[in-house]
Amino acid sequence: MDRRRRLRASVLLVLAVGLVALSGCGPSESLNAVTKQGHKISDLWYISFILTAIVLAIIFGVLIYAMIKFHGSHQPSTRVGNTRLEIIWTVIPAALVTFLFIMSVRTMLAVDETHPDAIVIDVTGNQWWWDYTYPSLGVTTAYELHVPVGKPVQLKVTGGDVIHSYWVPKLGWKMDTIPNKVNTMNLTATRAGTFDGACAEFCGTQHAGMRMRVVAQPPDEFDAWVKQQQQDASALPATSLERNGRATFLSQTCAICHTVNGTSAQGKVGPDLTHIGSRSTIGSGEVLNTPANLEAWIRDPASIKPGVLMPGYDKLSDQQIKALVAYLEGLK
Ligand code: CUA
Repeated sequence: MDRRRRLRASVLLVLAVGLVALSGCGPSESLNAVTKQGHKISDLWYISFILTAIVLAIIFGVLIYAMIKFHGSHQPSTRVGNTRLEIIWTVIPAALVTFLFIMSVRTMLAVDETHPDAIVIDVTGNQWWWDYTYPSLGVTTAYELHVPVGKPVQLKVTGGDVIHSYWVPKLGWKMDTIPNKVNTMNLTATRAGTFDGACAEFCGTQHAGMRMRVVAQPPDEFDAWVKQQQQDASALPATSLERNGRATFLSQTCAICHTVNGTSAQGKVGPDLTHIGSRSTIGSGEVLNTPANLEAWIRDPASIKPGVLMPGYDKLSDQQIKALVAYLEGLK
């Protein structure tokens, strides 16, 4: 290979490495966050990215210039020690790092800032589902977190068994849920929508099946949701099928693990089912909440979510299962 071709190959290699480095930087879900705090984190990310891109461009520019300009010269430079240059290339990086440090601390303080009127929501990661309790509103639900747009919310996240991680990319960041420790996530949703996420800390066989959904709603819709969730299920179910379903639910072991407010079922092992009929999925995002899926789930949950703690109820008669499904789907 002659010198000219070797030089061209070197320049191309340098450019290719630069392009590959840049190609991994497309905007992700987290950089397009839907919370006030997420925006602050993405602002910091963009500032860091632009600064480092400028530094990269300068270094590569000087490198390519030197490769072209001094190509073929075999005379090593004898110049050593240039005080002015050394001061410049010490002061500039130090100033950049200091600037990024200050920006990082400012972002951390802004993200951690708690609002006195925030709605507190206890979030517990369990194998393998998410439990949400709104202590001030008297609401408990699972899988689907509802928040009002524009109002501050404080998630107090913890682990019920092992360590999980609460990660809905659109919120902008994630938080570990650790048993016997409460971490806080302050968030204010900036727009309405439905945003999905998944557990981000390996927690057992169904780690990948431990999904969550955040529903950000205009305040009036959120208030209506709260009102509906606050109602208990004490009123008699409408149809005789549903009444039979309730009798089956309360006479089987369902009631030992699950709560249905307004009945004697007050178990805390599995998700609260007081309003299961109003949720979009079952099994923490595993399948859509339809009567057919719910029936399959009751018969053999492990066929849908292998490893799940709930046992199958295939021993029940078809009539009992139909009644159970009608009862649970009626719990809106
Ligand atoms: Cu919970 Cu991974």
